Amino acid sequence: MSDGLEEPMGLRHLTSIHDLDDGDLAGLLDRAAFFDREPAPRSAAMLEGRIVCTAFFEPSTRTRLSFEAAAHRLGARVIGFTDPATTSSAKGETLEDTIRMLAGYADCIVMRHPVKGAADRAKAVSSVPIVNAGDGPGEHPTQTVLDLYTMRKHKGTLAGLKVGLVGDLKHGRTVHSLVPALLRVGAKPVSVAAPGLELPKELAAKCPASTLDEAAAACDVLYVTRIQKERFADGKEYDAVKGSFVVDAALLKRTKSQAIVLHPLPRVDEVATDVDALPAAKYFDQARSGVPVRMAVLASLLEKSA
Ligand code: CP
Repeated sequence: MSDGLEEPMGLRHLTSIHDLDDGDLAGLLDRAAFFDREPAPRSAAMLEGRIVCTAFFEPSTRTRLSFEAAAHRLGARVIGFTDPATTSSAKGETLEDTIRMLAGYADCIVMRHPVKGAADRAKAVSSVPIVNAGDGPGEHPTQTVLDLYTMRKHKGTLAGLKVGLVGDLKHGRTVHSLVPALLRVGAKPVSVAAPGLELPKELAAKCPASTLDEAAAACDVLYVTRIQKERFADGKEYDAVKGSFVVDAALLKRTKSQAIVLHPLPRVDEVATDVDALPAAKYFDQARSGVPVRMAVLASLLEKSA
């Protein structure tokens, strides 16, 4: 069991879920559980004197603010931006040059960017750890750690869990990190994709397709995702698929009795508000868990050289 202060893992960057081996993943989950129990532990000064940069080239509520709260809880200070129009990227500075600058100002860069692969481009030029907080339709690895954390917390185990992934599985970066992680821990994901928004081929091959009704009846976890309007080049294509799936209280009457509903958020209309008060609704707790999980991530990346 973690005490929050154990030997750091050898993690240098976290741009993909594949950066974490099984031991790293288990260590982060245990460490997050410690920080969840003790948000202001004796490790509160663990990152004192360190600076975390949150470089957000795309909007965010949960990821940025939970990373910033996590940094503050560990004693670090935070710099960053939320609107790239206020930075010199608006004058044509390349991502690589921006990252080189930020690496001179901070000890870690948590970045979100609209372009898939941007975090790996940043990693290639950064002298400090890069955390991918979402790269377009690419990946969102720390979201996966908190998704697994929430599943384990509420279901007691990950091995054998049946997880129905619902919605925009093409553009949804959270599921692109989540599917490989679920498979590694022995869970059984099935996909319920909106038309034309199926998982990328290599993930779809490992994740059988299902209908929403079949998944609702069979799954322990329904992981619902938003149709990612901002990823559509043509608004008409979005209009054709929006509202494809709605998880509501009526549907939940047909789920297993202990099934839970997760969503990385934000939601639009794919989880009806009549679900919010039901015991199955765990998505707000899932978002809250972003702080202890990201404390675990930052501590694991930074304490070695603190
Ligand atoms: N889940 C998630 O990434 O939320 P934000 O876009 O608000 O950060």
